[in-house]
Amino acid sequence: MARVSVHRPPLVRSVAASLELARRARHLIPGGAHTYAKADDQYPEGLPIMIRRGAGCRVWDVDGNEFIEFGMGLRTVTLGHAFEPVTSAVRAALELGTNYSRPAQIEVECAEMLQWLVPGAEMVKFCKNGSDALDGAVKLARAHTGRELIAICADQPFFSVSDWFIGTTGMPGGIPGWTREHTLKFRYNNLASLAGLFEQHPHGIACVVMEASNSQEPAAGFLQGVAELCRDQGAVFVLDEMITGFRWHKSGAQHVYGVRPDLSAFGKAMANGFSVSALTGRRELMQRGGSDSDRERVFLLSTTHGAEVHSLAAALATMRFYDTHDVSGVLHARGLRLAEGIRAAARAAGVEGHFEVLGRPCSLVYATRDARGEPSQDFRTLFLQETLARGLIAPSLVVSYSHSEADIDAAVEIIGEALAVYRVALVQGVRPLLRGRAVKPVMRPYA
Ligand SMILES: Cc1ncc(COP(=O)(O)O)c(C=O)c1O
Repeated sequence: MARVSVHRPPLVRSVAASLELARRARHLIPGGAHTYAKADDQYPEGLPIMIRRGAGCRVWDVDGNEFIEFGMGLRTVTLGHAFEPVTSAVRAALELGTNYSRPAQIEVECAEMLQWLVPGAEMVKFCKNGSDALDGAVKLARAHTGRELIAICADQPFFSVSDWFIGTTGMPGGIPGWTREHTLKFRYNNLASLAGLFEQHPHGIACVVMEASNSQEPAAGFLQGVAELCRDQGAVFVLDEMITGFRWHKSGAQHVYGVRPDLSAFGKAMANGFSVSALTGRRELMQRGGSDSDRERVFLLSTTHGAEVHSLAAALATMRFYDTHDVSGVLHARGLRLAEGIRAAARAAGVEGHFEVLGRPCSLVYATRDARGEPSQDFRTLFLQETLARGLIAPSLVVSYSHSEADIDAAVEIIGEALAVYRVALVQGVRPLLRGRAVKPVMRPYA
């Protein structure tokens, strides 16, 4: 292939204040961030953008640089940063106090709203993180079935910060063998692999934990098959709606695919970035966490901050907005425009097959492959570097309700320029084009 060159703008702005703040963060906070996905090692060296504020689909860093972003607070911010109907509900709630000795009115209103949107939500318990909700589901399932094993979908990247899941990853430090051995894995869209687990462990599996879909769509009948297997085998079917909830549809992926789990866990998009998650599902199971069941009680999600008033006000305002606006329709349309624009840009740049947009339009991700077609962190680093330098933060390609068509088109243009550099790297080698070390997978045992 002939050598090619491409216009590579220098960093158009200074990142001096970000560099200094990131240095302080690394000194004080392990990994320099409170979530691994936001850590320095997930971003190119020399571009540790530290954010001061956000509005709509934009954020501004501590140097005053403006970015369009496609991470949206790890997919929590479905409506947009500082989205007015939500922030005004929170402002009003702040005047009422934050936490009382008895339940607040809003706890009931918020639970009723979730039940209105999600028909299977017979009872609701709020908490702060998705992990909490899923941990509650696992505990209920173990108590209900008297069994200890958990079956999780091997092809889905994350379920909980707790040992029952992290013990199965590439970063199991500090987790006892018993815990690691009690989580089994089955394959997505492969009912036989789940049936096989039930066969190998008769009356041993308490629950099946999975997302209805992640970057792959379910094969016809697969989710219904999982529900049926769980029913036949006496296991609890737990659906993780952390990413899909409110993004696929206001009633969740369970509505889109027509499947009814025993328990489901919502979070992320539920409160447009405020910390609210929920465990919902069948009364027979959920009420074991209360005082109305004649069976042994289960200590279910009793947290000091679980009913923080202004967070529930954010959740209520956000869910009301979903109920009255076609948010998932807008996310789908914007995501489709983005995916089609990027695919055209990839064709134009000659990197088709090396840079690939994947997933449902409302929750896109991308794959970076080298000249041989192998997955490449070096090429991911190059893509992040070239888009960041041009004012785009794109760890994923996740749209919000606040991304206008013009924002999408501006992003596609930037991505087109970045893909032209990607093309140069495919021809001439990627390393010389990187400003520093490559990004690394989060789940790795050593630095
Ligand atoms: C599918 C899925 N489930 C559960 C979780 C855990 O949620 P949280 O980080 O709120 O505990 C995540 C977090 O990224 C997730 O993506």
